Parts: sequence; structure tokens; C-alpha cells
Amino acid sequence: MRGFERGYSTQGLRFYAFVKDPLTWPLPKSKVTMLQTHQLNVNGQVVTFKSSADSTALQLIRNQLGLTASRYGCGQEQCGACHVLIDGQSKPSCQLSVDALVGRRVVTLESAQNPDLPSTPYLKALQSAFIAEQAAQCGYCTSGLLIGATALLMNAHETLSERHIREALEPHLCRCGTHLRVLRAVKIAAVQCGLKVISTEVPA
Ligand code: FES
Ligand code: FES
Repeated sequence: MRGFERGYSTQGLRFYAFVKDPLTWPLPKSKVTMLQTHQLNVNGQVVTFKSSADSTALQLIRNQLGLTASRYGCGQEQCGACHVLIDGQSKPSCQLSVDALVGRRVVTLESAQNPDLPSTPYLKALQSAFIAEQAAQCGYCTSGLLIGATALLMNAHETLSERHIREALEPHLCRCGTHLRVLRAVKIAAVQCGLKVISTEVPA
């Protein structure tokens, strides 16, 4: 029968195709990507969903879970825009397979709504400091920077030096040039979180 049929692209996106000849539908097995069921812990909640085997963690997070704060920049683990927390460490998600998230605790920027997560006080302090210091311009890199800085503050032991902050944020590119404002904001948030910051002055 002629008509519209539903299918899934290799990226796991649903599409509809107009089928002229029923003998050509469904597509040959070699063209079909099988969907797998996953159960993950994201932002403190267990979620179950289906995705194609070749989906990346970022595609899952943005397209299927609707958590769009994590951005697609380079797609090659080079810019930092897609970073999320995985078991408390800041990691790029643009090339990571969905399978790599199984059994891990994944945290995105949207987790700030969940007060029960250990990362939330750090994330909220950073968000406030970023706003106070106007550390975002276009904002494209900001989610990744906030995640990277959250991991830094969470895992710091009592003191933090400016060198530590610079090294932690090294993977994050910002084409708007907010680096010095970000540096100031992270220092402010670190102090608010009870850390002692050893630093040289950052010029205005
Ligand atoms: S989009 Fe992942 S590092 Fe650039
Ligand atoms: S604020 Fe625009 S890329 Fe960083």
C-alpha cells in the first residue's frame, strides 16, 4: 500500500517517508539502525529511553531527553561546549557513546533545579558569580564552562590556585573572549563555597 511510513535515521531521529512501492519498504536490514533500550541516571533521576547504537551521549541528552543546555560546538572534543559531569568529572559528550553512560551519574546544567545533588551548591554559586561578573557574552560556551568549573570546585581540597582554575578551564574555548571575567567569577564562587583562593590579581 502506498503512503507514509515511519522510520528512524542513523542519528536516532524519527522520520516519515512516502512509500511508493511497498516492496521497497521496510528498508533492507543493512540500512536500518536497531534501537537499544537504555536506563541512565541523569540529574538524579533514572530515565529509560531508546536510541540507536551509534548515538552519541550529546545527541541523547539534547535530542531525546530535551536537556539543551549542553551545546554542540566542534563535535571533536576540542571546544568544551558539550561538557557534562560524569561521576563528578567534567567530560565532553559529543563523541562519547551512550553505552559509556550506563551505570554512571550524569549531570547537566539543568541539574541546578535539583537541590539534592552534591554538585548543585557549587553550580548555583558559579551561576550567581557568572551573572555578577557578566562572564557570558553570547553564552554558547557558558554551559560547558559552568560544568568544568563545578567539577573543579567540587573536587578541590581547601585551597585553589589561579593556575588550577586556568588548567581546569583550558579545554573550554570562548570566541567572545570572556576568559578574564570567567576567571574572576570562578574565584568568587570558590570563596563562597568555602575554598581559599591563592591567586594573582586578574586585571579588569
Ligand atoms: S562539541 Fe564537544 S568538545 Fe566541542
Ligand atoms: S560567551 Fe560567546 S563563546 Fe563564550
